[in-house]
Amino acid sequence: MPPVFPAARAGMAAFRGSPLVCMDMKKKRRKGNGLLKGMVIICVVLALILAALLLVGRSGRAGGQTASSSGADLSSEAAAPAEASEAADSENPESGRAEEEATASTGSTALSLTDEDIHKGDLILVNPWNAYDFDANLDTIDLVNIKDNQSVSYPCDKSDFELAKHVLPHLDEMIAACNAAVGTNETSISSAYRSMDYQQNVWNEAVANYGEAYAESYVAVPGYSEHHTGLAVDLGRTASDGTAESFTGSANADWINANSWRYGFIRRYAEDKASITGTSNESWHYRYVGVPHAYFMYANNLCLEEYIEWLRENTSESAPYTITCDLGTWDVYFTQSHNPARPDGEYDVSGNNVDGYVITVKKN
Ligand code: DAL
Ligand code: ZN
Repeated sequence: MPPVFPAARAGMAAFRGSPLVCMDMKKKRRKGNGLLKGMVIICVVLALILAALLLVGRSGRAGGQTASSSGADLSSEAAAPAEASEAADSENPESGRAEEEATASTGSTALSLTDEDIHKGDLILVNPWNAYDFDANLDTIDLVNIKDNQSVSYPCDKSDFELAKHVLPHLDEMIAACNAAVGTNETSISSAYRSMDYQQNVWNEAVANYGEAYAESYVAVPGYSEHHTGLAVDLGRTASDGTAESFTGSANADWINANSWRYGFIRRYAEDKASITGTSNESWHYRYVGVPHAYFMYANNLCLEEYIEWLRENTSESAPYTITCDLGTWDVYFTQSHNPARPDGEYDVSGNNVDGYVITVKKN
């Protein structure tokens, strides 16, 4: 076996040959043992005191962690001095996480949507099978008089026509652009917002003048008209002498049909979609839905019924669809969650008036 410590082994061999040396060594050892024992006792006592102090300190700090990391006890944390709270946070990574969870549970990182919200917004589907919900919109519909608030001048068949306030600037812009493109100032408004009573009169007059079959094809049953929403207008053509001209087949109708999406409007009732919309061809009826949706429907030849269906089947909160045109880029998705994540930046939420919400997020 190799020596563990060669010098020590040599020293032990020298002691064996000299008894005196051995006696001295024994005496010295006895004296040294007494000192050593004393020191050991002192060390043990000191160690015990130190251990006791450490235990007291640790149990005190553990109590602080429990208080600061408990989501249920945020009020006591809020009442603590700022420095004490920060110190507890820096020692306890859990406390920061608890605060995030508490923030999430109060809803500031998620939207809070109600069942009533399904019936509000620019994308609500109102057709023969889906009535307009007057009660849900009672407090939020914001109508303005068109004549009094239009930013460019164009004729209205009646001076009391009203439209949703946020839609009027888009209508103004569209009519101004149309008139500039076709070289006349004839584009006019022949109908706008309608109350239940107003729609009842329209229905009664249509039946009286043209018969029930006509009314059923061209006029919505009261309660089922898009005109209740404040998002729909009927366009016309009024000559400078006040004579009403046909909108159908005019340069104005053609220009608006091709360009309305740029202003957020769709031509709502096309000939080839009559079996889906439940309404016959109307070249004059335009509905505001917002630019990305109007663009997508126009580019893909979808009516609103088809678009609402497409969104429901092809998008979700985790898989939005990106709509891009020369006016911008948006992410769009359908959700039935009452608490979808709050999108970053500019966004819009609209009910579909059937079974959920469409969320539109501006990307650039
Ligand atoms: N003309 C449309 C369908 C309405 O009456 O609302
Ligand atoms: Zn109409």
